Parts: sequence; structure tokens; C-alpha cells
Amino acid sequence: MSKIVVTGRIPEVAVERLRAEHEVDAWSAAEAISREELLTRVAGADALLTLLTERVDAELLDAAGPQLKVVANVAVGYDNVDVPACTARGIIATNTPGVLTEATADVAFALILMATRRTGEGERVIRSGQPWKWGMFYLLGSGLQGKTLGVVGMGGIGQATARRARAFGMDVIYQSRSGLGPEVAAGLGARRVGLDELLATADVVSLHCPYSPATHHLIGAEQFAAMRDSAYLVNTARGPIVDEAALADALRDGQIAGAGLDVYEREPLVHAGLLELDNVALLPHLGSATIETRTAMATLAADNALAVLAGEQPPTPIEK
Ligand code: GLV
Repeated sequence: MSKIVVTGRIPEVAVERLRAEHEVDAWSAAEAISREELLTRVAGADALLTLLTERVDAELLDAAGPQLKVVANVAVGYDNVDVPACTARGIIATNTPGVLTEATADVAFALILMATRRTGEGERVIRSGQPWKWGMFYLLGSGLQGKTLGVVGMGGIGQATARRARAFGMDVIYQSRSGLGPEVAAGLGARRVGLDELLATADVVSLHCPYSPATHHLIGAEQFAAMRDSAYLVNTARGPIVDEAALADALRDGQIAGAGLDVYEREPLVHAGLLELDNVALLPHLGSATIETRTAMATLAADNALAVLAGEQPPTPIEK
């Protein structure tokens, strides 16, 4: 029997799956585990199930000890995991791709609609008790039909967002390290372009690339200057891909028309400049937040950990 430490609250069905075979120490408090507590709890663990709020670095791996075999991150993004540090210790790192694709694309599209149709602004008017009445020019937004979506990072979530855009009558262009196969690209009606062309052309730019040193502040002052002043930026990927201070400036100065964010540079903090602006829709990292998706993510992470402990290939190792 191995010892598995689960570092945050996850759906019970996944914890039960682990308990059926192993000894499990699962953090069950509503508030996140402190770093100090985490470093103590992981001692002697053979497997860790980690949330994106935990930094999995050399210090944590060493605190666990040399018997640690697997870190199963309950997220598709793994910028919180030092994968080379895992590899150097012979530890397998896994993530949860696939199961959160549709839920995250739904939130990307929700943000596209919130930003372009000014729904957050409208709701704030009603809730604040301000007087309002229907007016020909009242809270006019931008329609999506016939407009162009620019997808940055055309993995599963980018493609799922592109499918939604097509259903809304949009054209799709994309920038990606690897191009789509001809059949997939034709199915999506998507044309591959460089980032410069995408920024200059798209009416809505939606970010779906992973965060890494290469994508840190990929979108900053220079990129906002290159975008159309009628364009919108949506980020459901990772906060630090966007320079938040530069975004606040661009939104305030009318360099772009609006934005929708689900992720932030220093979560849970949000840049003060953004909080003052009406032309940005702000969500608290809800991309994968459905009961079905979170259950599937936790179950997949559990299966990854169980496979490694059984000496088998995990279903979704992190692809380097
Ligand atoms: C959520 O942000 C994830 O990466 O799964």
C-alpha cells in the first residue's frame, strides 16, 4: 500500500478511488493548504495529487522524499509544476488534458459575449439601482456575425472555441506552434497566420496557449498598439501571458475596445487599473468550473497516480 497526499479539496469520488487501493491523506479544509503545512504533509508520499494553486518545485519534491513516484496535477496547465525537477528525480508528472476542453471554451465564449455585448456593464447598472430605460443607443455593443476570431494557441481548447465562433457566424484565423492537419483546419474553416497578422486582423483575440517563459507577456503594449481599436482580447489561458498593466492602459486609452479575463497575473489579485474600467469583463478563474468537468479532472488525476503506482503508463503524462 502506498501513501498518496491530495493537497487540496477534490471531488470525493476521486478520493474514494484512491482510498480503495492506498492510504490517502487528503486536505479537506475549504481554505487552501499553507506552504508550511504542505511541506510537512507530503513527507513520505509516493504520489501527490496537486492543484494549480500549489507550487510543485524542488523544495516540495525533496520534502516528499526519494520514494515519490508521481505528481498528478489536477489541471491541464502545469506552469505550477517544475517538470524538469520532477524528471531529474525520476518522478512522473501528469496533467488532465481533454476533459476540460469544452467547459473552458464555454467560458471563453461567455467572455467574448460579455465583452462585446457589455453584459457585465448592463448587470452592474441594474444591481446598482441606477435608473435605466431602453434606448436606441443605450449600451450598444458589437455583433459577432461576419467578424474574425483570432485564436492564439490552437490546441483542444482553441479548437473548441473556434467551433463555437463558427456557430456564431465568425471567420477564424489562428496562430500556433504546429499547424492543424488539413482536414481539421478545413472542418473549422480556420486559416493559420503569424501573430502579427492575427493581431492586426482579428476583431476578437482569444488566448489558448500554455504559459511558459516563452509566452510571458506575449501580449503587451506593443501588441495592443498593433490591434484594431475596435478589437477585444479574451484570456482564459494563464494570466501572465498578458501584461495586465499594459492591458489596463490600452483599455483606458481606447487602444482596444474591450477585454474579458478569467485568469490574472497574480491570482487572486487583479490589477487595480482593471477594476476601475467598465470595458473589461472579469471572472474568477472559472474555466473548468462545472461539476462534471471537475469530477472528470480529479478522476483522471487519480487514474494517473494509480497507474504509476501500479507500475503502468499513466493515461496523460505531461508531454514535454
Ligand atoms: C485550469 O486553469 C487548468 O489549467 O486546468
